[in-house]
Formats: sequence, C-alpha cells, structure tokens
Amino acid sequence: MATEVIEYPEGSLQNVLEQDTLKWVFVGGKGGVGKTTCSSIISILLARVRPSVLIISTDPAHNLSDAFQQRFTKQPTLVNGFTNLYAMEVDPNVENEDISNNEGMDSLFSELANAIPGIDEAMSFAEMLKLVQTMDYSVIVFDTAPTGHTLRLLQFPSTLEKGLTKMMSLKNRFGGLMSQMTRLFGMDDEFGEDAILGRLESMKDVIERVNKQFKDPDLTTFVCVCIPEFLSLYETERLVQELTKFEIDTHNIIINQVLYPEEGVESKLLKSRMRMQQKYLDQFYMLYDDFHITKLPLLPEEVTGVEALKSFSDNFLIPYKPPTGKDSVEGLELRVSTLKQQLEEAEADLEKLKKGKQVVA
Ligand SMILES: Nc1ncnc2c1ncn2[C@@H]1O[C@H](COP(=O)(O)OP(=O)(O)OP(=O)(O)O)[C@@H](O)[C@H]1O
Ligand SMILES: [Mg+2]
Repeated sequence: MATEVIEYPEGSLQNVLEQDTLKWVFVGGKGGVGKTTCSSIISILLARVRPSVLIISTDPAHNLSDAFQQRFTKQPTLVNGFTNLYAMEVDPNVENEDISNNEGMDSLFSELANAIPGIDEAMSFAEMLKLVQTMDYSVIVFDTAPTGHTLRLLQFPSTLEKGLTKMMSLKNRFGGLMSQMTRLFGMDDEFGEDAILGRLESMKDVIERVNKQFKDPDLTTFVCVCIPEFLSLYETERLVQELTKFEIDTHNIIINQVLYPEEGVESKLLKSRMRMQQKYLDQFYMLYDDFHITKLPLLPEEVTGVEALKSFSDNFLIPYKPPTGKDSVEGLELRVSTLKQQLEEAEADLEKLKKGKQVVA
C-alpha cells in the first residue's frame, strides 16, 4: 500500500500575489504583532504585479506614515519611489465634517449615534468605501486596527441597517414634529430628516454592495498576523472563527517575530523563549494545516522605511531559513529538547488521567 503523502500549502504569501482576481486584502491581528509592517510589504509586493495598489489604514493610531517614513492624509498619496502604490489614512472615529458643522444636525445626529452605537463609524467607513470604489484601484489593502475594531468594521452593514430602521420609526412616530423641529433649528432641506434618511439609504446601498464583495473569496481575503505566543494564538483562533461567521475568506497566517538559533549565542533566556515559541508554532501548524503559514524572523532592528520594508519582503515569498552550519544543528537540538519537554508534559497528563480513572473506578 502506498503511503499517503500529506501536502501542506506552501509557506509563503505567493498565493496572494498569484490570485489576480483579488480586490480587497485585509490584514489584521492583535496589537503590535506587525500588522502595519506586513500590510505595507504586501502592498509593495502587489505593486509589482498589479497596475495600481492602494493601502488604507483604518487604525485611529495611524502608523503607515511611520512604516513608510512619509506623511499620509485621508487623500490617497503616491508613496515615494513608486509609480503605482498609493497610501491613505482614514480615521473611523472622526465625524463627517461636511455635516457635523451644522449645530441642529449635530444634535440630531448625535442623538441617532447614541441610539445606535457605531453608526457614525459605519457612516465614515461607508463614505470612504464609496470614495475608493470610484477610484478604480486594481487592489486595495487594509491595515486594520487591532482585532476588536476590525470585527466591528465587518459588522457595519447590520449597524447601518439598524440605523435606518430607527430613523424610519422616528419618522413614523413623530411625523410632522421632526420637520417642524428641523425648521425651528434653522436647518434647510439639505440637513432635514429626509436628507439624513437619503444619506443613510445611499450609504446602505454602497455598504451592501461592498459587503457582497467582502464575502466573495475571489475578491476578498483576510491575512491574519500573529506571533508565536499563547495570547496571539488564542486571538487568531477567535479571529478566524469570527471571519468564518461573517463568511470572509481567510487562508493565510503570518507568524511574525520568530526567533532562530544563532551561531555562538548561548543565552538561556533566548533558548527558553525559542522553546516556548516552538511549542506555539507546533500548535499553529496543527490547527491551521490547510492555511498558508508564513514565518518571519525577528530582526534586531525595526522595519521602517521603504528600503527596510523591501528587503524584509523577501521573507514573504521565500520561506526564511537561518544561516546554515552550526546553526542547523542547534536548531535541531532545540527542536528535540522541545519535543522531549512536550512528551514529558503529555506523559504527566496521561498519568494524571489514569489516576483519576482509578479513583472513579
Ligand atoms: N520581524 C520584525 N523584526 C523586528 N521588528 C519588527 C518586526 N515586525 C515588526 N517590527 C517592528 O515592530 C513594531 C510594531 O510593528 P507594527 O507597527 O507593524 O505592528 P502593528 O501590529 O501594526 O501595531 P499596532 O497594533 O500598534 O498597529 C514596529 O516598530 C516594526 O518596525
Ligand atoms: Mg499598526
């Protein structure tokens, strides 16, 4: 009988570059794991194979500017040194300027915003999507805010739906009163309730269309970034489950800040951290055997500026291998000692289980 050969997906992000139908690439994960670094590099790599690429940061604490070492605004700006890569930073928490400078409208709007948490955020997200949709980029990469935020972003369509329903019911209940009030506050038609309703409706339209695209695996994928530690593994699992619930495709995990054995380094701290990392790496590979898992080494320095990003980008395409020689022996030794430790733990668990059974019996 022929032995079955298990083929794991290749450990690189080549698959994202090859999928030329992709229109939206989300990059997300826990705080500080390397989302901005990875999304910036993905956008740089995509710019090599696509006519035009836009990278958007939806994190209120913008750091695309830090990564590229160039100031960006809420308008797409060409990234220095590129002819087809643009970046913009939008703040989902900032209220719409064009409507919020009217006092009456403001109070009505904040009333509505209080009634439906997240509606203002949803509105500015929709505004942004409406804008970028008209711009005709070949692919749009999102550097998202830490996990909680991202998941809220994906719930916006239903948030908007609620806003609309609430507005309708207000309109039905108070009918003429509202339009009298809007006149009293000196709001003209442009800011009246019908105008708000119209806006909500058109937003809903955009967001529904985009949402349909987000749920199409040919058009959209979510790249999860993490580090080999317990909390990050836990958070990644939560993220993958939420994405599945929202029917958003995800089949790439980047494990960043991986430590590799270094020649001549005899640090106990480093060795025990490597053992810890190996334990979680094993779990990542076990849990996500149908994902492309890309490992990135922890560098001695930060990855900032286009040149640093470009040189780090090699690891996204060709799996990183530490320098050969003594290192590989050390690597194997480490692996053996980790496996021994895991075996001991498993044996101890087994003993405990057996003892428990005897007590019950
Ligand atoms: N593999 C790495 N080796 C060394 N430094 C790294 C590595 N990956 C990222 N960094 C650095 O770590 C810092 C955090 O990375 P980054 O800003 O990409 O994380 P983030 O997930 O976007 O953080 P936040 O949640 O705050 O937005 C940056 O200074 C970046 O240059
Ligand atoms: Mg970031």
